[in-house]
Amino acid sequence: MQDAHLPSAASLLAWYDRSRRLLPWRETRDPYRVWLSEIMLQQTNVVTAAPYYAAFCDRFPTVQALAGADPGDVMTAWAGLGYYARARNLHACARAVAAAGGTFPRTVEALEALPGIGRYTARAVAAIAFDVPGVPVDGNVERIVARLFRIETPLPSAKPALAAAADRLGVQPEAQRRPGDFAQALFDLGATVCTRQPACGICPWRDSCAASRAGVAAELPRRSPKKARPCRFGAQFWLADGEGNILLRRRPERGLLGGMTELPGTAWGDAPLSEREALDAAPMAAAWRHAGEVRHVFTHFELRLGVFAARVPRIAAEGFLRPAASLDAEALPSVMRKCVALGSAALPP
Ligand code: ADE
Repeated sequence: MQDAHLPSAASLLAWYDRSRRLLPWRETRDPYRVWLSEIMLQQTNVVTAAPYYAAFCDRFPTVQALAGADPGDVMTAWAGLGYYARARNLHACARAVAAAGGTFPRTVEALEALPGIGRYTARAVAAIAFDVPGVPVDGNVERIVARLFRIETPLPSAKPALAAAADRLGVQPEAQRRPGDFAQALFDLGATVCTRQPACGICPWRDSCAASRAGVAAELPRRSPKKARPCRFGAQFWLADGEGNILLRRRPERGLLGGMTELPGTAWGDAPLSEREALDAAPMAAAWRHAGEVRHVFTHFELRLGVFAARVPRIAAEGFLRPAASLDAEALPSVMRKCVALGSAALPP
């Protein structure tokens, strides 16, 4: 039986048909491209993801092409998107699909068994590429349903209740007939209307939203107080030679930023380093200059890196050299791009 008070899937779909965002991954239902876009969109907004999506489609047009690519090339193409374990899993997933004949499985359960695909991505790919009913629940969808049903329990305890509420929306016949559109309509509503500061005045679900009626939409979802993010400290060294090459090294495969390129540096620890302690770890003796501090926020900690810069005629240290002008082609994560920018600004050629 249909719930008489349920916000209507038909109204949301009618709104989507009028107001949907034109996004590059909406021009196809190729499961490879749908999957690629959903992995990119897990922690990244559409504006940041779009050029990466275009570059990946260009460079790796099929799942077989991605599966056969050199891991370093995949990391380089991903550099700047963050959450690098996703890139490693992306490549592992492409290899698994290619090894199984090159076709993505069509059920949520089989998709979820692949590397890097959780419940949310499995549901999104199944709905968008294969019309499998089911609502993928991400932070946007949680925010929408917390407001629609005025769920006051704070996150993260509210997660099961929010997922159940999302499922109730998805069982309506109109949502079941167009699962991919219904999922993407929710994404668009969350990104453009039901945002942190909601625009209830233009919302197609305004009349059926319990939080909007009560005037508390902007307060939901509630969150349990966050623990303060711990801080880690370290130092990186920007070292140039007489020909304009920069010294780089590769991080170990396992762990944070695994396999990515970095400026040589200290380990990252819990206590700030004195300049003396930092320079003890310099890759070679040189007239090091303190170029400044880079701050970068990861999911579980904030990193503060002292950056030291020097120029020497010839570099004799462990690592490899790359011309400063071609660093864009390296798999440099964002935090290292900031360090490079600071180092090169301190000692212009
Ligand atoms: N966020 C996650 N998936 C998305 C999609 N397919 N379109 C827009 N935003 C999204």
